[in-house]
Amino acid sequence: MWSVLLFAGGLAWGQSPHEAVPDVTLGKRIFDSQCAVCHGQGGTGGRGPALTKPKLAKAPDEESLRRAIAQGIPPEMPGSWQLSVREVASVARYVVGLGQVAPEKLPGDAQHGRAVFQAKGCGGCHLVAGQGTARGPDLSAIGAKRNGAHLRASITQPAAHLAEDYLLVEVVSAGKTVRGVRLAEDPFTLQLRDGAGALHSFRKSQVQRWRHLPAESSMPAFARNLSATELDDLVAWLASLRGEQQ
Ligand code: HEC
Ligand code: HEC
Repeated sequence: MWSVLLFAGGLAWGQSPHEAVPDVTLGKRIFDSQCAVCHGQGGTGGRGPALTKPKLAKAPDEESLRRAIAQGIPPEMPGSWQLSVREVASVARYVVGLGQVAPEKLPGDAQHGRAVFQAKGCGGCHLVAGQGTARGPDLSAIGAKRNGAHLRASITQPAAHLAEDYLLVEVVSAGKTVRGVRLAEDPFTLQLRDGAGALHSFRKSQVQRWRHLPAESSMPAFARNLSATELDDLVAWLASLRGEQQ
């Protein structure tokens, strides 16, 4: 019996996943060392989405979860080709357990946070459930993707965690400097959208200089414009946004 299991553990992914007996303790150890860097300790989210949900959009059952872990979800979630079938099954079982953990308890009044969001003009750059303007990321399900600490930092120091696809670039062309969010780039051309919403397209060979600004965000820092209570309330409201109609 054991020799069969050990043998199954060494087979390539997909050949006999059901013979691997998951070990949650092993799963947690692997998660902490290989997944937490993106999904946070305990799967509360970071660069990768929070995994503390009863149902994961891209891995709704344990079978698809094992597949997602082994093969990854291109382009951003890497596959874990280095893990054996048993290790994959063990991490999957650990992740299933995370979905049974209640969402974080945060201080703050989520209802009031919604009013703060409106009063501070956040909707001028963000969509929530179809309302607002899409100059920054859609926040309709941000609570399912980011933990409280990450949300807080995104508001007070936007450049601390730049959302994907919002890289700022600066181009100096014909003596004029244009800054904006990169929309597209290849070795020869660069397209960006400036703060006023205008689109610009450049040939790299024809501009004086261009550079990426990886440490800057086009979102203003709100640290000084928000009281501590307003910030708590705002974070509590954003954390409650999980893609359902609000
Ligand atoms: C380099 C960062 C990174 C690492 C390391 C990483 N992930 Fe991910 N993971 C992501 C990102 C980003 C996504 C979102 C992909 C998408 O939706 O396209 C994701 C998505 C997922 C999903 C689907 C979530 C959903 O809501 O459907 C699961 C499950 C998952 N990861 C589990 C793991 C596990 C388990 C490990 C460790 C073996 C791991 N990830 C390692 C970045 C990472
Ligand atoms: C001038 C436009 C602008 C305004 C106003 C603005 N944001 Fe942003 N926001 C952005 C942009 C662009 C990004 C993506 C770059 C980044 O992550 O810093 C972003 C990112 C974020 C993120 C991170 C999203 C993620 O995927 O992690 C959160 C959370 C957020 N904003 C919340 C707010 C809140 C709350 C307010 C109001 C207090 C606000 N924003 C006001 C433009 C804006």
